[in-house]
Amino acid sequence: MDKLLIEGGARLAGEIDASGAKNAALPILCATLLSADAVTLHNLPQLQDVRTTQRLLRELGAEVQAEDPTAVTVQARDLVTHTAPYELVKTMRASILVLGPLLARLGEARVSLPGGCAIGARPVDIHLEGLRAMGADIRVEGGFIHARASKLQGTRFVMDTVTVTGTENLMMAATLAEGTTLLENAACEPEIGDLATCLNAMGARISGAGTSTIRIEGVERLHGAEHRILPDRIEIGTFLVAAAMTRGSVTVRQTGSGLLDAVLRKLQQAGARIHCEADSIQLDMAGRRPVSVDVHTAPFPGFPTDMQAQFMALDCIADGVATISENVFENRFMHALELQRLGADIRIEGHMAVVRGREQLEGAPVMATDLRASAGLVLAGLVADRQTLVDRIYHLDRGYERLEEKFRALGAYVQRVTHIPQEAA
Ligand code: EPZ
Repeated sequence: MDKLLIEGGARLAGEIDASGAKNAALPILCATLLSADAVTLHNLPQLQDVRTTQRLLRELGAEVQAEDPTAVTVQARDLVTHTAPYELVKTMRASILVLGPLLARLGEARVSLPGGCAIGARPVDIHLEGLRAMGADIRVEGGFIHARASKLQGTRFVMDTVTVTGTENLMMAATLAEGTTLLENAACEPEIGDLATCLNAMGARISGAGTSTIRIEGVERLHGAEHRILPDRIEIGTFLVAAAMTRGSVTVRQTGSGLLDAVLRKLQQAGARIHCEADSIQLDMAGRRPVSVDVHTAPFPGFPTDMQAQFMALDCIADGVATISENVFENRFMHALELQRLGADIRIEGHMAVVRGREQLEGAPVMATDLRASAGLVLAGLVADRQTLVDRIYHLDRGYERLEEKFRALGAYVQRVTHIPQEAA
């Protein structure tokens, strides 16, 4: 099992390119099931979850052809089954995103019910309620969701909770429904806008994506298209936080704009100088220690929950005391327990954490529990003294492309090890 061995103390400097967004690539790959024609996607990140999704599409009968490392053409001309198997769904919850497309395209879908995960129960009840509102017959039995609908019907559906993949599943299903669908209290994340852009290029009629009310006029069929996946705002934010924590100066290119304003504002509050161009973001800490910043996670355009662990790591070494409230998931503080192993002063009270900044953390072996928690641990290792060994980094590989290479390009001492040198054990 791979681990990351990190020697703390380097001040990050230099430039890196952002990769395509994992959380846009996954729904957009699933959207290719809605058409019998070829869809070519560019700027795909090279991630475990992207490879898993492509495997799932092949299992369903789609042809998946890599054009180059970051581009793929998918043609779902003859689907051979409407079932997404447990073996695949259990490794990636986002497999639930084939439910809407399969139901809309084939009139039937059978998807293993995603279990919970480290950060929470993560039910999919709103996905199912929305499909029922469109006339689907949905049964959950034997650990599977079984959905049937000869033809989905457009409807007005208000989502109880803002749900990103729930909005995506229902938006995809509605593209082939009879009549018009209005999704209200929809999620506004940029990845939803990117999915709508791709669907409209395929002939869908979607307006309002990126706002809390999305209108989808059903069409008979969707055709092929080409689409470039938008940049990964969480990867960009992760590298900017690393630059701030190490008191360095880093430019991230290929960032697009307007994707992470809430995060940039927090970094400025922490004392960073931020300079944005059309397609790049530069953060300069000028050698200063960050100032503690409070964090309150919320759906977009609020502060993203996927950046909470990274900012907890920043607050662990910042000047002052910060409160962090996690308001999206019920159990997303596991990284706090591992950060405490590095000497962090964190007190958890329900969905609140109080973090008292310390000048220095002490390197130690730690264990990743979920994707963004492991990113927070890597950031802490970059500033801790001596060595930090992060275990179970398969969590990282799901959502970060060549993370250690990108950090090394900025001057960090990070290496992927399988056999641990004696002194580091
Ligand atoms: C998406 O997960 C992202 N994953 C997550 O990123 C991200 O943390 C999350 O949105 C919030 O921004 C992908 O896009 C693949 P939700 P999702 O449905 O859609 C409750 C990462 O690290 N809820 O918006 O599963 C749910 O329990 C991952 O890249 C229901 O109650 O999140 C949660 O409390 C982690 N019923 C809240 O809504 C439902 O039917 C938000 O969840 C659906 C959700």
